[in-house]
Amino acid sequence: MSDAIENCAIERIIATLCADHVRLKHMFDRHQEELVGGRYELSHEFLLQFQRLLADHVTVEEQQILDRAMPRTSTRVNANLYRAEHRQMGVMVEQIERMFVEASSTPLTRRKMIDLIDAERPLKGMLEHHCHREETVLFPAIAGFAASPAGEPTYAI
Ligand SMILES: [Fe+2]
Ligand SMILES: [Fe+2]
Repeated sequence: MSDAIENCAIERIIATLCADHVRLKHMFDRHQEELVGGRYELSHEFLLQFQRLLADHVTVEEQQILDRAMPRTSTRVNANLYRAEHRQMGVMVEQIERMFVEASSTPLTRRKMIDLIDAERPLKGMLEHHCHREETVLFPAIAGFAASPAGEPTYAI
């Protein structure tokens, strides 16, 4: 693949990943909104959609950005940090999903809603911080590399 085509492909991948971040936030917000509205089934469905999108998103990020594009840059971005947070968020969302299934065996009370929302706070915070760091550090480093004919990053890290 020529450098120009490769660079164009990387830019498209980054644009899709940024759009995923917006969709992930929207799905998680909808999940919590339906939960506090007492619509447990719908809330659970949004959580499952969120979980699927997060898994697909992480696969693309790790394969196309961290494995393929990043080794071609001279950036000092710590890929292991991103991978570790991906694993951690995957575990957190699995735990939350299990809590939801367990909670469904008895009526959904206000207390239970509050407990579920509280339990989700660490995942919500990590997701927000992680996406922000990707958009302000990781992706600009990769895009800077892709935009440079010499193959050197144009962003200071
Ligand atoms: Fe990520
Ligand atoms: Fe991401």
